[in-house]
Amino acid sequence: MKTKKTYILGIESSCDDTAAAVISNSVILSDIVASQSIHELYGGVVPELASREHQKLILPVVKKALEKAKINTSNLSAIAFTNGPGLIGSLMVGTSFAKSMSLALKIPLISVNHMKAHILAHFIEDPENSNPSFPFLALTISGGHTQIVKVNSYFEMHELGKTLDDAAGEAFDKSGKVIGLKYPAGPEIDKLSKKGDPNKFKFTKPKVSGLNFSFSGLKTNFLNFINKQVRINEDFVKDNLYDICASLQHVIVDILMDKLIKASKETGINTIVICGGVSANSEIRKMLKVNSEKHNWKVHIPKLSYTTDNAAMIAMTGQLKFENNIFSDYETSTNPRLKI
Ligand code: KG4
Ligand code: ZN
Repeated sequence: MKTKKTYILGIESSCDDTAAAVISNSVILSDIVASQSIHELYGGVVPELASREHQKLILPVVKKALEKAKINTSNLSAIAFTNGPGLIGSLMVGTSFAKSMSLALKIPLISVNHMKAHILAHFIEDPENSNPSFPFLALTISGGHTQIVKVNSYFEMHELGKTLDDAAGEAFDKSGKVIGLKYPAGPEIDKLSKKGDPNKFKFTKPKVSGLNFSFSGLKTNFLNFINKQVRINEDFVKDNLYDICASLQHVIVDILMDKLIKASKETGINTIVICGGVSANSEIRKMLKVNSEKHNWKVHIPKLSYTTDNAAMIAMTGQLKFENNIFSDYETSTNPRLKI
């Protein structure tokens, strides 16, 4: 039997990326992201500015996604949108836009949990990556979250551990700010680390029980270390930039890997996926491969464009919900603290 072609539009506006994508039967036809560079000036996302930018960008971004997919609104089967977690003002722009579009086109509305979508991005059809098989463990690492999630099925997920304070992305971004890097510092630290010695400087690893994480102690340790060194040599950062970045990245990746190994041992699950902005990091990718050989893991590493915030993952989750008749009504509102 031939499956009917469906076209789902995904809309993402939870933080500082305005994004829209069209998926048809697990194949992404378009994936448009407009990143808001305005926040670079402030060293972090300014919520009020983010909502204003979303309002400016959302219509052009959606139009572009439809054009690139070579479809028009009458072809759409449903509209999927992020309803949380995220910044309330940002989420409200995408939510209101999606509701209006669904109402005008008389097609179903599907709300999507941003963090679940990061995980389900692994089901987007990709000739270079196979789908993970259930159950699997997902390490979700982004600017706002750090979690280990046990994924039993598309819709049944359990958080096994999470950060008690800062997220892994914040550990990169806030430490980067201390050494004068622009926001978000994660990609730059990754790049600079390639020329540095990861064992040159030692930073504290937190002692956190179970599968939880903590990064705030590391941030303070890093700040104190840099301040102390700068008092001795005012050019310390400039003179040691590569080694500072490589050593910082090394300890962050180590903290993440320790808990992932623990989670795999405790659950007996050896299919591991990584997702979220920080999963773009080259050292994490390398160490996952090293650990997959050591611990007999089957690892799934996402395509770079599906690591940071995107709407392809929202469209993918929308499609899975559409196929399972899981729709939202017009009372659905945003939930900035939505849990997995
Ligand atoms: O998932 P994401 O795009 O947005 C959130 O939902 O937070 O993640 C953004 C985070 C930022 O903290 C950024 O510095 C980090 O992902 N990031 C990286 C890399 N690329 C992005 N961190 C380390 N290495 C990278 N290559
Ligand atoms: Zn994200």
